[in-house]
Amino acid sequence: MNPIVAPVKNVMKAQISFNRLLSRPMGVPAMGLWHGDSGRGKSTTATYVYNQIHGVYVSVRDADSVASLMRRLVEECGGQPRYAKNKNIEYVIEHLSMNELPLFIDEADYLMDKKEMLNTVRDIYDATEVPMILIGMDQIARRIQSNRQFFNRISEWVEFKPADLEDVKVVAKSMIGDEIVLEEELLDRLRKSAHGEMRRIVIGINKIHNLAKVNELDLVTSKDWGNEPFHGF
Ligand SMILES: Nc1ncnc2c1ncn2[C@@H]1O[C@H](COP(=O)(O)OP(=O)(O)O)[C@@H](O)[C@H]1O
Ligand SMILES: [Mg+2]
Repeated sequence: MNPIVAPVKNVMKAQISFNRLLSRPMGVPAMGLWHGDSGRGKSTTATYVYNQIHGVYVSVRDADSVASLMRRLVEECGGQPRYAKNKNIEYVIEHLSMNELPLFIDEADYLMDKKEMLNTVRDIYDATEVPMILIGMDQIARRIQSNRQFFNRISEWVEFKPADLEDVKVVAKSMIGDEIVLEEELLDRLRKSAHGEMRRIVIGINKIHNLAKVNELDLVTSKDWGNEPFHGF
Protein backbone atom coordinates (compact mmCIF):
# COMPACT_ATOMS: atom_id res chain seq x y z
CA MET A 1 0.00 0.00 0.00
CA ASN A 2 1.44 3.35 -1.01
CA PRO A 3 1.10 6.08 1.62
CA ILE A 4 1.09 8.87 -0.93
CA VAL A 5 -1.13 11.83 -1.58
CA ALA A 6 -3.40 10.92 -4.47
CA PRO A 7 -3.55 13.65 -7.13
CA VAL A 8 -7.32 14.07 -6.99
CA LYS A 9 -9.02 17.18 -8.38
CA ASN A 10 -9.06 19.08 -5.08
CA VAL A 11 -5.32 18.56 -4.66
CA MET A 12 -4.58 19.73 -8.20
CA LYS A 13 -6.87 22.74 -7.90
CA ALA A 14 -5.30 23.79 -4.61
CA GLN A 15 -1.79 23.34 -5.97
CA ILE A 16 -2.53 25.45 -9.06
CA SER A 17 -4.21 28.12 -6.97
CA PHE A 18 -1.25 28.20 -4.60
CA ASN A 19 1.17 28.55 -7.52
CA ARG A 20 -0.86 31.51 -8.75
CA LEU A 21 -0.43 33.12 -5.33
CA LEU A 22 3.34 32.60 -5.51
CA SER A 23 3.58 34.23 -8.92
CA ARG A 24 0.94 36.91 -8.42
CA PRO A 25 1.52 40.30 -10.03
CA MET A 26 2.44 43.19 -7.77
CA GLY A 27 -0.52 44.63 -5.94
CA VAL A 28 -2.53 41.42 -5.94
CA PRO A 29 -3.08 40.32 -2.33
CA ALA A 30 -1.54 37.02 -1.29
CA MET A 31 -4.16 35.43 0.93
CA GLY A 32 -5.88 32.24 -0.11
CA LEU A 33 -8.82 30.45 1.41
CA TRP A 34 -9.35 26.70 1.20
CA HIS A 35 -12.71 25.60 2.45
CA GLY A 36 -14.89 22.50 2.52
CA ASP A 37 -16.38 19.86 4.79
CA SER A 38 -14.31 17.75 7.11
CA GLY A 39 -12.56 14.74 5.59
CA ARG A 40 -12.24 16.15 2.09
CA GLY A 41 -8.47 16.31 2.18
CA LYS A 42 -7.68 19.93 3.06
CA SER A 43 -5.05 19.22 5.72
CA THR A 44 -3.48 16.43 3.66
CA THR A 45 -3.20 18.80 0.70
CA ALA A 46 -1.74 21.56 2.87
CA THR A 47 0.92 19.19 4.21
CA TYR A 48 1.70 18.08 0.69
CA VAL A 49 2.04 21.64 -0.64
CA TYR A 50 4.00 23.14 2.26
CA ASN A 51 6.46 20.25 2.29
CA GLN A 52 7.41 21.00 -1.30
CA ILE A 53 8.17 24.62 -0.61
CA HIS A 54 9.21 24.38 3.04
CA GLY A 55 6.43 26.67 4.19
CA VAL A 56 5.22 27.01 7.76
CA TYR A 57 2.08 25.22 8.94
CA VAL A 58 0.09 25.74 12.09
CA SER A 59 -3.24 24.35 13.17
CA VAL A 60 -5.43 26.53 15.37
CA ARG A 61 -7.09 24.94 18.42
CA ASP A 62 -10.33 25.82 20.08
CA ALA A 63 -8.55 26.72 23.32
CA ASP A 64 -5.95 28.93 21.62
CA SER A 65 -5.32 32.53 22.56
CA VAL A 66 -3.03 34.87 20.65
CA ALA A 67 -0.29 33.99 23.14
CA SER A 68 -0.55 30.21 22.73
CA LEU A 69 -0.92 30.36 18.96
CA MET A 70 2.12 32.62 18.62
CA ARG A 71 4.20 30.37 20.84
CA ARG A 72 3.41 27.40 18.61
CA LEU A 73 4.06 29.43 15.50
CA VAL A 74 7.49 30.45 16.78
CA GLU A 75 8.25 26.78 17.38
CA GLU A 76 7.04 25.89 13.88
CA CYS A 77 9.43 28.54 12.58
CA GLY A 78 12.21 26.74 14.43
CA GLY A 79 12.56 29.36 17.15
CA GLN A 80 12.44 29.41 20.93
CA PRO A 81 9.22 31.04 22.19
CA ARG A 82 9.66 34.03 24.50
CA TYR A 83 7.46 35.08 27.36
CA ALA A 84 6.25 38.34 25.83
CA LYS A 85 3.63 37.83 23.16
CA ASN A 86 4.88 40.79 21.11
CA LYS A 87 8.35 39.32 20.92
CA ASN A 88 6.89 36.14 19.50
CA ILE A 89 4.85 38.02 16.94
CA GLU A 90 7.95 39.97 15.92
CA TYR A 91 9.93 36.77 15.58
CA VAL A 92 7.29 35.22 13.32
CA ILE A 93 7.12 38.32 11.14
CA GLU A 94 10.88 38.47 10.78
CA HIS A 95 11.27 34.79 10.11
CA LEU A 96 8.53 34.66 7.48
CA SER A 97 9.54 37.79 5.63
CA MET A 98 13.29 37.21 5.67
CA ASN A 99 12.88 33.72 4.30
CA GLU A 100 9.82 34.54 2.20
CA LEU A 101 7.95 31.59 3.64
CA PRO A 102 4.26 30.98 2.93
CA LEU A 103 2.14 30.37 6.01
CA PHE A 104 -0.64 27.78 6.19
CA ILE A 105 -3.19 28.25 8.96
CA ASP A 106 -5.37 25.16 9.38
CA GLU A 107 -8.61 24.98 11.39
CA ALA A 108 -8.90 28.71 10.80
CA ASP A 109 -12.56 28.54 11.86
CA TYR A 110 -11.29 28.94 15.40
CA LEU A 111 -9.98 32.39 14.51
CA MET A 112 -13.34 33.68 13.43
CA ASP A 113 -14.85 34.29 16.84
CA LYS A 114 -11.74 35.75 18.35
CA LYS A 115 -11.11 39.24 17.16
CA GLU A 116 -7.67 39.58 18.68
CA MET A 117 -6.43 36.41 16.96
CA LEU A 118 -7.93 37.45 13.66
CA ASN A 119 -6.29 40.87 13.93
CA THR A 120 -2.94 39.35 14.83
CA VAL A 121 -3.06 37.09 11.80
CA ARG A 122 -3.91 40.08 9.67
CA ASP A 123 -1.05 42.07 11.20
CA ILE A 124 1.36 39.26 10.35
CA TYR A 125 0.10 39.22 6.81
CA ASP A 126 0.33 42.98 6.40
CA ALA A 127 3.84 43.07 7.83
CA THR A 128 5.15 40.20 5.71
CA GLU A 129 2.92 39.99 2.65
CA VAL A 130 3.98 36.39 2.28
CA PRO A 131 1.35 34.06 0.83
CA MET A 132 -1.01 32.99 3.58
CA ILE A 133 -3.50 30.18 3.21
CA LEU A 134 -6.43 29.99 5.61
CA ILE A 135 -8.00 26.56 5.76
CA GLY A 136 -11.41 25.90 7.20
CA MET A 137 -14.80 24.31 6.97
CA ASP A 138 -17.62 25.56 4.83
CA GLN A 139 -18.75 28.18 7.30
CA ILE A 140 -15.51 30.07 7.03
CA ALA A 141 -16.13 31.19 3.45
CA ARG A 142 -19.40 32.78 4.46
CA ARG A 143 -18.12 34.34 7.63
CA ILE A 144 -15.04 35.80 6.07
CA GLN A 145 -17.12 37.60 3.48
CA SER A 146 -18.61 39.74 6.18
CA ASN A 147 -15.15 40.68 7.44
CA ARG A 148 -14.12 43.15 4.74
CA GLN A 149 -10.61 43.64 6.06
CA PHE A 150 -9.90 39.98 5.52
CA PHE A 151 -12.07 39.50 2.51
CA ASN A 152 -10.22 42.19 0.54
CA ARG A 153 -6.91 40.44 1.08
CA ILE A 154 -8.03 37.13 -0.34
CA SER A 155 -7.29 36.63 -4.01
CA GLU A 156 -7.57 32.85 -4.28
CA TRP A 157 -10.49 30.67 -3.19
CA VAL A 158 -10.52 26.89 -3.39
CA GLU A 159 -13.57 24.86 -2.50
CA PHE A 160 -12.82 21.25 -1.59
CA LYS A 161 -15.62 19.29 -3.22
CA PRO A 162 -16.74 15.69 -2.62
CA ALA A 163 -14.71 13.17 -4.60
CA ASP A 164 -16.27 12.02 -7.87
CA LEU A 165 -15.82 8.62 -9.51
CA GLU A 166 -12.70 9.74 -11.35
CA ASP A 167 -11.17 10.83 -8.03
CA VAL A 168 -12.00 7.50 -6.41
CA LYS A 169 -10.23 5.75 -9.29
CA VAL A 170 -7.18 7.99 -8.78
CA VAL A 171 -7.12 7.17 -5.06
CA ALA A 172 -7.44 3.42 -5.75
CA LYS A 173 -4.66 3.55 -8.29
CA SER A 174 -2.31 5.49 -6.07
CA MET A 175 -3.02 3.22 -3.09
CA ILE A 176 -2.83 -0.19 -4.73
CA GLY A 177 -1.32 0.32 -8.18
CA ASP A 178 -2.35 -1.56 -11.29
CA GLU A 179 -2.01 -5.16 -10.20
CA ILE A 180 -5.44 -5.43 -8.66
CA VAL A 181 -8.32 -3.96 -10.64
CA LEU A 182 -11.37 -2.66 -8.81
CA GLU A 183 -14.54 -2.70 -10.83
CA GLU A 184 -16.03 0.71 -11.58
CA GLU A 185 -19.41 -0.24 -10.14
CA LEU A 186 -17.77 -1.14 -6.84
CA LEU A 187 -15.84 2.14 -6.72
CA ASP A 188 -19.02 4.07 -7.42
CA ARG A 189 -20.80 2.28 -4.58
CA LEU A 190 -17.92 3.27 -2.32
CA ARG A 191 -18.09 6.89 -3.51
CA LYS A 192 -21.81 7.06 -2.72
CA SER A 193 -21.56 5.40 0.64
CA ALA A 194 -18.66 7.68 1.62
CA HIS A 195 -20.51 10.78 0.37
CA GLY A 196 -17.35 11.65 -1.51
CA GLU A 197 -15.39 11.99 1.73
CA MET A 198 -11.70 11.18 1.20
CA ARG A 199 -11.22 9.80 4.70
CA ARG A 200 -13.89 7.15 4.18
CA ILE A 201 -12.84 6.42 0.61
CA VAL A 202 -9.31 5.64 1.76
CA ILE A 203 -10.62 3.34 4.50
CA GLY A 204 -12.93 1.60 2.01
CA ILE A 205 -10.22 1.03 -0.59
CA ASN A 206 -7.99 -0.40 2.09
CA LYS A 207 -10.72 -2.89 3.05
CA ILE A 208 -11.32 -3.86 -0.57
CA HIS A 209 -7.59 -4.31 -1.02
CA ASN A 210 -7.51 -6.65 1.97
CA LEU A 211 -10.36 -8.71 0.54
CA ALA A 212 -8.42 -9.01 -2.73
CA LYS A 213 -5.27 -10.12 -0.92
CA VAL A 214 -7.01 -12.68 1.29
CA ASN A 215 -8.82 -14.22 -1.68
CA GLU A 216 -5.98 -13.71 -4.16
CA LEU A 217 -8.20 -11.76 -6.56
CA ASP A 218 -6.76 -9.60 -9.32
CA LEU A 219 -10.19 -8.16 -10.07
CA VAL A 220 -12.68 -7.19 -7.37
CA THR A 221 -16.26 -6.72 -8.54
CA SER A 222 -19.22 -5.27 -6.76
CA LYS A 223 -20.54 -8.83 -6.46
CA ASP A 224 -17.30 -10.02 -4.84
CA TRP A 225 -17.73 -7.34 -2.25
CA GLY A 226 -21.34 -8.26 -1.52
CA ASN A 227 -23.31 -6.25 1.00
CA GLU A 228 -20.60 -5.55 3.56
CA PRO A 229 -20.45 -1.92 4.68
CA PHE A 230 -17.29 -0.14 3.49
CA HIS A 231 -16.91 1.62 6.75
CA GLY A 232 -17.91 0.69 10.28
CA PHE A 233 -19.92 -2.48 10.79
N1 LIG B 1 -5.23 13.22 -1.70
C1 LIG B 1 -5.26 12.26 -0.77
N2 LIG B 1 -4.61 11.08 -0.98
C2 LIG B 1 -4.66 10.10 -0.06
N3 LIG B 1 -5.34 10.17 1.09
C3 LIG B 1 -6.01 11.30 1.35
C4 LIG B 1 -6.02 12.40 0.44
N4 LIG B 1 -6.78 13.39 0.96
C5 LIG B 1 -7.24 12.93 2.13
N5 LIG B 1 -6.78 11.68 2.38
C6 LIG B 1 -7.10 10.85 3.56
O1 LIG B 1 -8.29 11.33 4.14
C7 LIG B 1 -8.08 11.68 5.50
C8 LIG B 1 -8.81 12.97 5.81
O2 LIG B 1 -8.22 14.04 5.10
P1 LIG B 1 -7.89 15.44 5.78
O3 LIG B 1 -6.82 16.07 4.95
O4 LIG B 1 -7.64 15.29 7.22
O5 LIG B 1 -9.30 16.21 5.55
P2 LIG B 1 -9.76 17.63 6.11
O6 LIG B 1 -8.55 18.37 6.55
O7 LIG B 1 -10.44 18.26 4.92
O8 LIG B 1 -10.73 17.32 7.22
C9 LIG B 1 -6.58 11.81 5.66
O9 LIG B 1 -6.15 11.37 6.91
C10 LIG B 1 -6.02 10.90 4.60
O10 LIG B 1 -5.92 9.59 5.11
MG1 LIG C 1 -8.15 19.15 8.42
